[in-house]
Amino acid sequence: MKICSVVGARPQFIKAAPLSTAIRNQATEILVHTGQHFDQNMSDVFFSELEIPKPEYNLNISVSSHAEQTGQMMVELEKLYLKEKPDLVLVYGDTNSTLAGALAASKIHIPIAHVEAGLRSFNRNMPEEINRVLTDHVSRWLFVPSDEARKNLSAEGITNNVFEVGDLMYDAVLKFSKKASTHSNILERLELQAGSFLLLTLHRAENVDSREHLENIISALASVESKILLPLHPRTAKRLQAFKLELPNNVQTLEPLGYLDNLQLLENSRGLLTDSGGMQKEAYYLNVPCITLRSETEWVETVEVGWNQLVHGDFKSLKTAESGLDAVRKKEHPALYGNGSTAELICNRLFS
Ligand code: UD1
Repeated sequence: MKICSVVGARPQFIKAAPLSTAIRNQATEILVHTGQHFDQNMSDVFFSELEIPKPEYNLNISVSSHAEQTGQMMVELEKLYLKEKPDLVLVYGDTNSTLAGALAASKIHIPIAHVEAGLRSFNRNMPEEINRVLTDHVSRWLFVPSDEARKNLSAEGITNNVFEVGDLMYDAVLKFSKKASTHSNILERLELQAGSFLLLTLHRAENVDSREHLENIISALASVESKILLPLHPRTAKRLQAFKLELPNNVQTLEPLGYLDNLQLLENSRGLLTDSGGMQKEAYYLNVPCITLRSETEWVETVEVGWNQLVHGDFKSLKTAESGLDAVRKKEHPALYGNGSTAELICNRLFS
């Protein structure tokens, strides 16, 4: 069996790490990097640290408009699929690379497997929501992380070939958190004491592309008492510069972090502030309380168990959420998205 896996952005590299290894034990994999994330510290470092095979193809498509990005990827992927003739195309998550990989395959009748299917924010203003819905509807195999995701698909009429397998990011955390604690010296480099800081990530278009909204978030951050570390995503760096906005004094920016430094910083933080999907779960796996800077989340289970609070950029609720952070650690911590054997479960289905 020949599988073509399409990746392009940081969270996809992380998910590909455990699954590519498992696939290559049983089949031929052609790994394609679309080029959506291209900086050394947004891309290459993940391949080396997570021991991901070197992609067979890099399409180097890094234009920033959605239509250009998705369209150019589709054109190149179609050519590649026609040349390589894979039996299956595998796509991950909800980025433009996911949608391009799936749409191009569906038009030439190559079956698609979607990993992390069924997630919904029910906010169609997010490009990610459009990418998820469309990808799910053209996929043959739908690998969902939770029962909630299965129900979301069922509500849209998708009930065949839906398999609950948990979350590949949990496989990756289990595999690499020990390596992070021995290989990363980020706490020493930044002279940080464990538990003395909050980690912040911010990059969603809905949060950073509007001046007003970004400004609200920044003033809310100024009210937080802990020191805040912010590895700055290129999108956010560009917007801060374009809007001429300054971050408050309690926020220290860093270059985007590699996987191991990020895990190490997260595990030793007092809490996480984020608008990332993946980081909400990684925080949970590492027993770190999370505040999500959005009004909804796809990972509703983390909110239901009380480890994740939703705060949408307003100053008062951020302050209240921050003051409740330490109490969160006493809450129960049930397994939410499988037991870390997601790669194996997916392979069992694909190769049975
Ligand atoms: C994308 C995904 C989002 C995912 C995120 C992970 C879409 C619609 N969004 O958002 O779901 O959570 O990745 O980080 O696919 N840039 C650089 N260097 C890089 C990468 C990007 O300078 O290495 C610039 C791009 O040129 C662009 C901006 O950063 O101007 C945003 O990148 P883009 O790929 O559009 O999406 P993300 O915001 O990263």
